[in-house]
This record gives sequence, structure tokens and C-alpha cells, in this order.
Amino acid sequence: MRSLIITLLAIFSFSACGAQTEKKMNNGKSIVVFFSHAGENYGVGNVKEGNTKIVADVISEKTKADRLEIVCVKDYNMGYDALCNLAKKEQNAGELPGYTLLLNGNKLSGKMDMSSYTTIYIGGPVWWGTYPQVMFTFFKDYDLNGKTILPFTTHEGSGLARCESDLKKKYPNATFGKAFSIYGHEVRSEAGKKKVEAWVK
Ligand SMILES: Cc1cc2nc3c(=O)[nH]c(=O)nc-3n(C[C@H](O)[C@H](O)[C@H](O)COP(=O)(O)O)c2cc1C
Repeated sequence: MRSLIITLLAIFSFSACGAQTEKKMNNGKSIVVFFSHAGENYGVGNVKEGNTKIVADVISEKTKADRLEIVCVKDYNMGYDALCNLAKKEQNAGELPGYTLLLNGNKLSGKMDMSSYTTIYIGGPVWWGTYPQVMFTFFKDYDLNGKTILPFTTHEGSGLARCESDLKKKYPNATFGKAFSIYGHEVRSEAGKKKVEAWVK
């Protein structure tokens, strides 16, 4: 009996130790990288905060992840139709607009050090079937191969569209988790928030 108890104790402490190691290994930092456009938009009117930003905030609140906002240097302060036309032109031309970065709301002067992050949520609105061109400028500048990427979009009917597959093309050696999409007009509701939380969970 005594030796049985000792054996059981040994097995228990071994597996507890294993669980701890696993926890440590998975304990890398998370960050939410996103672009979002405030102003006039489809289905929501003239908004102070973009739809994707609201989702990014819920993710970071729930996971304690840092927030890295991509801010386009171009002025997108215009009506919805004008922005649609401009975005189409940018996409057709393969334009890569410049950007600045806000880390947890603070403007970065140099390049962002992504080395300590293992899990990266990447989100943006769907613009003509994929992420806005400025996000592709970021993807060109930052090699996220080897990271775990969780793509998300806000949209008005296209779902994930080509966003997830475009990310997979950019980062063929990243590990991809389950992607998530939500209607932009849903994100301000309690039900919308719950959908984001359920995905994060
Ligand atoms: C320029 C532009 C292009 C868009 N293209 C699409 C599209 O192809 N498919 C779609 O479902 N929604 C499209 N939308 C709607 C946005 O994806 C949706 O409103 C999104 O939630 C906006 O997010 P944001 O407020 O974070 O920018 C487009 C909106 C704009 C402004």
C-alpha cells in the first residue's frame, strides 16, 4: 500500500511538473495588430471609433494582449463612396501606403520589436475582398513566420473574404489558429461583444 501511494505521488508530481512546463512554453506574449477606419462607413453612419478597433479592444481586454494599431499616413477622412473608389484604385495599383504605429495608444518612433510575441491577432476591415492595402505594407515590413496568427475581420457581407488566405500566402511558415469574422454593424452590441469573447475563448 505504502509503495503504491509513493508511486501515485511520483506520477502526480511528474505530470504537474509537465503541465507547468507546458504553461511556461505557451506563456509567450500576445499582441493585437489591427487597422480600423473611423468616420463615415456603411451600416453604422459616422463613427468616432472604427468597427475593427472595437473588436481589437475586446480581444486585448480579454487576453491582456498589447495593441498595435496601424495608422495610415494617407487621409481617409472622406465619404463612404469616395473612400470605396480610392481603396479600389489603391488595390488595383498594388499601392503600399505608409503608416505609423501606436503601441497601446503611444506612437512608436522606430520599428516595433515583435520578437517577444508568440501569438498575434491580426485584424482589419474587409476592403474590396481583402485587408486594406496599408496592412500589406505592414506585412511586407514584418516577418511573422514562426508565430501563431489568429486572423479576424469586420465586414458587411464578405466574412473573411481573402484575408485569411492572403495572410497564409504572406506567412507560409506561421501557425494559423481559427479565424474569426463579424459584421461591422454588430460590434457595438452586447451580442457582438459576446461573439468576440466566444472566439477568444
Ligand atoms: C473602402 C471600403 C471597402 C469595403 N469593401 C467591403 C467588402 O469588399 N466586403 C464587405 O463585406 N465589406 C466591405 N466594406 C465594409 C467594411 O468592411 C466594414 O464596414 C468594416 O466593419 C469596417 O471596419 P472599420 O470600421 O474597422 O474600418 C468596405 C468598406 C469600405 C470603407
